Amino acid sequence: MSGIHNIVVLTGAGISAESGVPTFRTKNGVNYWDIGDGHDDYRVEDVCTPEALAADPDLVHRFYDARRAALATVEPNAAHRALARLDAAWPGALLIVTQNVDDLHERAGASRLLHMHGELNSALCAACGARVPWAGDMPPGTRCDACGGAAMRPDIVFFGEMPYAMDRIERTLSDADLFVSIGTSGAVYPAAGFVQTARYHGATTLEMNLEPSAGSAYFHETRLGPASGLVPAWVETLLS
Ligand code: APR
Repeated sequence: MSGIHNIVVLTGAGISAESGVPTFRTKNGVNYWDIGDGHDDYRVEDVCTPEALAADPDLVHRFYDARRAALATVEPNAAHRALARLDAAWPGALLIVTQNVDDLHERAGASRLLHMHGELNSALCAACGARVPWAGDMPPGTRCDACGGAAMRPDIVFFGEMPYAMDRIERTLSDADLFVSIGTSGAVYPAAGFVQTARYHGATTLEMNLEPSAGSAYFHETRLGPASGLVPAWVETLLS
């Protein structure tokens, strides 16, 4: 496609939905996850805030242990694979920024990838800030190998915390020729504002989602449907 060199792709829970990773839902104004572990729905404020971690570390760790364990039961789908193909073949600059904490982009083979909301397969020491790869359960009070503090927590950016690599993301957005948003509701900032940043700096903007997102009006084009169909078709056109 002529004139396009720098591409930024933002992905959200919708790209992993067809792999069987539950998306975040809203019922009667309450945001929650049903992760199919037999527990009643987990309300976002009970498991995804620093206050929740302080008030009930057992619940928060159990929730992320269950989500981490569930990664073994899911596989990348055609949309993850298409982005990995784009990553391998695109001669220009490309950055896939994901809000997802699963590892399906990397398992599909993508490497120009940034997890802005953290990763299930990583642990963060709340005392010294060390981040280390993590597999299996993480009981509350697990000690940090770096500083010895009993402060290991899931390496997840909770609501109210600053996403990772915002400087790099903002810089990359300001250089983008094409910004593409896939499978995100556009409800959670700062990611929901990326389309406006990219467009302000002159990028063409495209959204692919099951339904129009909250920020749909900011995109030059919206394609509605399942990511597993839309994303491979888009990549095919871009690379041909
Ligand atoms: N293909 C494309 N889009 C889909 C599909 C699919 N198969 N299935 C669902 N979607 C769309 C939904 O219509 C919805 O708009 O994906 C979007 C998912 O929205 P959210 O669950 O709100 O996910 P996301 O936008 O990634 O949430 C942002 O909020 O849950 C917190 O921190 C968490 O990173 C997450 C952030």
